[in-house]
Amino acid sequence: MPLPVTYLDNAATSWPKPPPVGQAMMRFLDEVGANPGRSGHRLSIEAARVVYRAREAVAGLLGVADPMRIIFCANATHALNLALRGLLGPGQHVVTTSMEHNSVMRPLRALEAEGTALTVVECSPEGVLDPAAVERALRPETTLIVMTHASNVVGTLMPVREVAEIARAHDMLLLVDGAQSVGALPVDMEELGSDLLAFTGHKALCGPTGTGGLFIGERVDIARLDPLTRGGTGSNSESDLQPDFLPDKFESGTMNVVGLAGLEAGVRWMIDQNPEELRSRERSLTARLIEGLREIPGVEVKGTQDASKQLPVVSFTLAGPDLGEVGRRLDEKFGIAARVGLHCSPVAHQTLGTFPTGTVRFSLGALSTREDVDLAVRAVRHLAEETRMRDSR
Ligand SMILES: Cc1ncc(COP(=O)(O)O)c(C=O)c1O
Repeated sequence: MPLPVTYLDNAATSWPKPPPVGQAMMRFLDEVGANPGRSGHRLSIEAARVVYRAREAVAGLLGVADPMRIIFCANATHALNLALRGLLGPGQHVVTTSMEHNSVMRPLRALEAEGTALTVVECSPEGVLDPAAVERALRPETTLIVMTHASNVVGTLMPVREVAEIARAHDMLLLVDGAQSVGALPVDMEELGSDLLAFTGHKALCGPTGTGGLFIGERVDIARLDPLTRGGTGSNSESDLQPDFLPDKFESGTMNVVGLAGLEAGVRWMIDQNPEELRSRERSLTARLIEGLREIPGVEVKGTQDASKQLPVVSFTLAGPDLGEVGRRLDEKFGIAARVGLHCSPVAHQTLGTFPTGTVRFSLGALSTREDVDLAVRAVRHLAEETRMRDSR
């Protein structure tokens, strides 16, 4: 009998998905199936409604009054590339932090090679960003600050509101990578003050992979945001030029409607659970996990180690065994799905002092339980004891 899976890899993608997600996707495939906005028949109109409902659901969740300001993309990476490539170019300066995911760092490094100046502001070894350091990095030619809302390695919540105030005071834009935060915490765009926000559908929003998007705020000049792709939109079909209005300017080609049907269901399910309550439950599980791991000799928990300052993403090192081996043993002996290594964030691991080996990461989700956390702690204690016994022989 295979071991039951204890899924602690929700920062990679959430699982299991709430049942309404799969049901909505099956319903779309079985009963609608058509291309949205391309034809006048009822199935096409219904498909367009599915897309619009997903847009409304995400806009509602983010406190955005105009759903057309939500652009759907394949994932957060696509949304970040759209914003970075669309806004930056030679002669400009962009500021980011040393806790970013490669979906921010790689496009920035490529833009740097093409002539955009880049400053990476150092965070503390706990992964904490000082907003004053961001302000000090600004130059007259800085046009954009880009930063994560929450670290995917240690879950640290970043001071986005403070940086948004700095961006406004210096008349520049702020792009936030909300891949980990949207759905995991209440995010209100008005309150956050960020001009652009990339989100993903397949993590805390509980939707399927292949969904995500970009919120584009009113301070962004749409005419100066270049689309990553151009093509058919179902609108302005008499013209061979890309439409210049939202959301069509940035949504060419047939959309992932089956995915968006699932995304809408995921968002609605999440709202029904009461996001505030979810967060407080996850926070107490995170505190329990940190506490349990911290007591194990040989284990070093990274980050702030304060559940009120982070998402339910906990990274640690374990003296002795190779981390790949730890991941394999967690899976094979305990049925625990976790992620070990660098988590697509080499710069964050350099900041935390865990480069190049990385960490073991447990990431909880909306369906994680106290039993999951206790099993994880027991499993790590077992592996740590096993290592000590082997070393003492
Ligand atoms: C902080 C952060 N940014 C961006 C991404 C990329 O998200 P996606 O898989 O939706 O492209 C991830 C995914 O792990 C992430 O954790």
